[in-house]
Amino acid sequence: MIIAGNWKMNPDHQAAEALLEALSDYTPASDSNCEIVCFPPACYFSMANQALAKTGVRWGAQNCHQESGGAYTGEISAQMIKEQGGAWVILGHSERRQYFAETDALVGQKIVTALQTGLRPILCVGESEEVRNKHSHDNFVQSQLEASLELVAQMSPDAQKKALAQLVIAYEPVWAIGTGKVASLLDIEAMHQGLLQKMEALFGVQLPEAGVPILYGGSVNDANAADILGLKPVSGALVGGASLKPDAFLSICHIADKK
Ligand code: 13P
Repeated sequence: MIIAGNWKMNPDHQAAEALLEALSDYTPASDSNCEIVCFPPACYFSMANQALAKTGVRWGAQNCHQESGGAYTGEISAQMIKEQGGAWVILGHSERRQYFAETDALVGQKIVTALQTGLRPILCVGESEEVRNKHSHDNFVQSQLEASLELVAQMSPDAQKKALAQLVIAYEPVWAIGTGKVASLLDIEAMHQGLLQKMEALFGVQLPEAGVPILYGGSVNDANAADILGLKPVSGALVGGASLKPDAFLSICHIADKK
């Protein structure tokens, strides 16, 4: 299981400090193989690295640039995240796609850069309410997945194997993000199953046995996490709002611990 907390552009300095303190106290069950990762804004990277250094909790960035460096004012490279101690990066979040016009092709480039740098990318996919209402969500999300992984599909077999061992996918229906409208268990299960089949068709690998976990994100909280994480094709959660509440987030981590 993987429990990821996407803080977005939310906590102030004091709240970030409190969240990190709560995370640094987190004690997993002795037989747990659950990975906990938080995604603070870049200004808190060094604070996160210090607070979590001696814990099993990891941290990552909410985005990175596709180039390794250069004249890109305001941007942060994968290498910078890595050098600060970050191990993960969220890519293609629907808010990046919506507000910063990120395309599948761009997200695909960022995935390759993250992988080459040694960061574990979480590739986000998910349909809008409009697409869901038209009943074209399966095609839409699977196309997003395929297009975002086009460069991975072109890799040599060896490089592709390594890439797939690092990759994590997150299914986040846009209409469920920050709305309290969580997708139904049946819908989550069906979409994850479809994505697993698509990965099998694209890469010829049996999943999740081959190691590409698919997380669900969208209004996950401590009350619905047990049911969602209990679904077979769900390997964890990408949590937004509830990741800002230490008690709720740690409850979700403990629920995942037992799965
Ligand atoms: P919420 O959990 O607030 O719906 O946000 C989900 C999300 O966007 C995580 O990346």
